[in-house]
Amino acid sequence: MQELIKELNILSEVNAEENCEVFKTSVEQNTGRQRKLYVESYGCQMNFSDSEIVTSIMQKEGFDTTSDFQKADVILLNTCSIRDKAEQTVRKRLTQFNTIKKSKPELLIGVLGCMAERLKSKLLEEEKIVDLVAGPDAYRDLPNLVRQVDEGQRSVNTFLSREETYADISPVRLNSNGVTAFISIMRGCDNMCSFCVVPFTRGRERSRDPYSIINEAKTLFEQGYREVTLLGQNVDSYKWSPEVNNKARLDARLEKAEVFKVINFANLLEMVALVNPDLRIRFSTSHPKDITDEVLHTMKKYDNICKYIHLPAQSGNTRVLELMNRTYTRDWYINRVNAIRRILGEDCGISSDMIAGFCTETEEEHQDTLTLMDYVKYDFSYMFYYSERPGTLAAKKFKDDIPLEVKKKRLQEIIEKQQTISTERNRKDIGKVFKVLVEGTSKRSVEDLQGRNSANKVVIFPKETYSKGEYVNVRVKDCTAATLLGEAVK
Ligand code: SAH
Ligand code: SF4
Ligand code: F3S
Repeated sequence: MQELIKELNILSEVNAEENCEVFKTSVEQNTGRQRKLYVESYGCQMNFSDSEIVTSIMQKEGFDTTSDFQKADVILLNTCSIRDKAEQTVRKRLTQFNTIKKSKPELLIGVLGCMAERLKSKLLEEEKIVDLVAGPDAYRDLPNLVRQVDEGQRSVNTFLSREETYADISPVRLNSNGVTAFISIMRGCDNMCSFCVVPFTRGRERSRDPYSIINEAKTLFEQGYREVTLLGQNVDSYKWSPEVNNKARLDARLEKAEVFKVINFANLLEMVALVNPDLRIRFSTSHPKDITDEVLHTMKKYDNICKYIHLPAQSGNTRVLELMNRTYTRDWYINRVNAIRRILGEDCGISSDMIAGFCTETEEEHQDTLTLMDYVKYDFSYMFYYSERPGTLAAKKFKDDIPLEVKKKRLQEIIEKQQTISTERNRKDIGKVFKVLVEGTSKRSVEDLQGRNSANKVVIFPKETYSKGEYVNVRVKDCTAATLLGEAVK
């Protein structure tokens, strides 16, 4: 057990430093077609979700998929621009693919996602091995762009749309455990936080037709999935009104009373919760300025809406928050946390994103971030030091004046604080019984299963006769900073 605890602690540290996972295509589809596609995704969950849409579009176009890039005829990298490091990772990967391309000149290499959108055709100049560049709203055009490359041109589409939500495309589930899945409910972001590149790479905010969301959730449940995560950069500003969003569909649905109603995020949550009581619902990301008591009360009303909120604070200091253009103060944030605790109780999971060393941040202001963490007692945080992004408001208006060593020191203090709080929060769970949805075998031992409780904590327990996709009541016996360890209750 001690060994397991040690290793899990190391894992959590790695997670804490860079919220950047890489996912490769893991569906092997071999129907004897001519060409094979390999997709690799970087960045946030929205990007992983988009890769599933891309794969669907390409399969319809006649591609098989492979999880081995050596066997691929087309390699697509779905990229992230959020921090400089994220872009450097992609550039390194392109250099590695260069060696394969030398021995296989017909190999087509495409860059998708946020880096494609940020750099546009400049990417073709900077990275000679790239044949195709497609931004997040241009995926329907991929078959056409591939054709252009086949005809000997390099192709680019970085047009951003005000309407595209890919609502009618059924995603091909990649890297799936068959139990949990993502559903995109909106795209883009209108917030303009001064440090952030997303409004430039993903365009204007738009919400997806709720009926297509419900249908996707129903289909997933029928296929055996037991948890969906509703995705958007700011889910609380979800808003769909048939009149505004889709006049053409209004006629077809006139017989349904609710077509006249504007559907907000609380309404959408309720609609998805009603799909089936055995389908769990999660969502991400909530914006502190927009999360309403109505959402919190809806969460309370339905057992299958998980009691977990990712509520990124970014900083605990009001002056810094103002420079960040987050449009809330420390007090406003604390008020929202108090509302969560009041309505959903102490056990509701809360997590955050924090940025250390934003422009002009003083030592005292950094301390405010640490005291906010002490107040909220986050279960988990993604923590970064500030990385200036070209074209953002902060890059235009402020000097990136905190020395790297100071940024790193402050980040380290934030990480250490979070480790202490996570351990403390997990220790409080010892002795409690949680309903855990089993996601599969534990990464550490084939004798154990791994799942999550409602508050999003990873719970590991001996397998016995239980299996993936089941709900199991588990009593917590021990913990690490990142994981609860327990035993099933008979
Ligand atoms: N929509 C989400 C965040 C998406 S980006 C929200 O509003 O919270 C994920 C996280 O990356 C952000 O919350 C922020 O903490 C971090 N981030 C964004 N831009 C950054 C930058 N320029 N430097 C460092 N971290 C950044
Ligand atoms: Fe970026 Fe702010 Fe939008 Fe989040 S809310 S994606 S941090 S601009
Ligand atoms: Fe990265 Fe784009 Fe997501 S910049 S974090 S992949 S929205």
